[in-house]
Amino acid sequence: MLVTSARATALYDRVQRVIPPIEWPAFADDIDAILDLKRQRNAVVLAHNYQTPEIFHCVADIVGDSLALARKAMTVEADVIVLAGVHFMAETVKLLNPGKTVLIPDMRAGCSLAESITGEDIRLLRQRYPGVPVVAYVNTSAAVKAESDICCTSGNALAVVESLGVPRVIMLPDEYLAQNIAAQTEVEIIAWKGHCEVHERFTPADIRQLREDHPGVTVLAHPECPPEVVAEADFSGSTAAMSDYVGKRKPPRVVLMTECSMSDNVAVEHPEVEFIRPCNLCPHMKRITLANIRAALEQNRHVVTVSPKIADRARLAVERMLAV
Ligand code: 13P
Ligand code: SF4
Repeated sequence: MLVTSARATALYDRVQRVIPPIEWPAFADDIDAILDLKRQRNAVVLAHNYQTPEIFHCVADIVGDSLALARKAMTVEADVIVLAGVHFMAETVKLLNPGKTVLIPDMRAGCSLAESITGEDIRLLRQRYPGVPVVAYVNTSAAVKAESDICCTSGNALAVVESLGVPRVIMLPDEYLAQNIAAQTEVEIIAWKGHCEVHERFTPADIRQLREDHPGVTVLAHPECPPEVVAEADFSGSTAAMSDYVGKRKPPRVVLMTECSMSDNVAVEHPEVEFIRPCNLCPHMKRITLANIRAALEQNRHVVTVSPKIADRARLAVERMLAV
């Protein structure tokens, strides 16, 4: 097997259970280059839990769910932050680090939820429901955050909704997340009709089939799944909450009803757990590769900016969330 350095070989030991040896030579050179570039440029790589294992385990400095990435982004001391994830995550990092260079390796890494709503939609909703606060899922553009009162993620949505102390909130754009939170609170929730193109594809029949094919399997579902799917699961939580569940409970057999790469990343940490893998890929997350992370650092691209007209208001919505 061809590897470029002892450093890359050591990293391969970490991921060998999820990356076949035949694929590794295609990664090792970029990994070596990225590790050097990070040092030269005083840069860090932040990676979401859905990034592929060669990114997540071999070049990322900070990993996590959307909430953890936002929180940890505030503590970064490097000059340059490369966000291995999708565009709304990079915008959130930029909002929290206005003085740093934030790069996203592919500008087209979007999100079906973020694309389902605009700032103008929120202004219209406010006319229709005067005085009702707007809770924006972090999977939205900065323009939408700027029109909202507070942000939330799948990891803190219930706490954010209940922190407002009001009987009714507008929660957007994910209809299923809103319904899943509504099932846990007395607060009335007005939802929007956005969906995640990855999680909306899971069905209750999928879970019943998995339980039949893999007796004893523990089913964990992301709250972007439809409520009927969450109802059939054993546990529902953010990507970090699912990962913690596996770490703490160590179910012998588990299935994560979420994006494909998540199982690979968690499996690396828990060789004793058997992962059943129904595979729904997020095409946006998959636009990020080692090759374009390397190019981002070499060529300082693509620089993420947020219009000054909206940045202060959008930052306030994110900061209010972080204060909950
Ligand atoms: P988490 O905040 O749970 O990581 O989810 C982000 C996301 O995009 C899920 O599809
Ligand atoms: Fe957006 Fe769904 Fe992809 Fe997450 S998995 S980035 S919510 S499209």
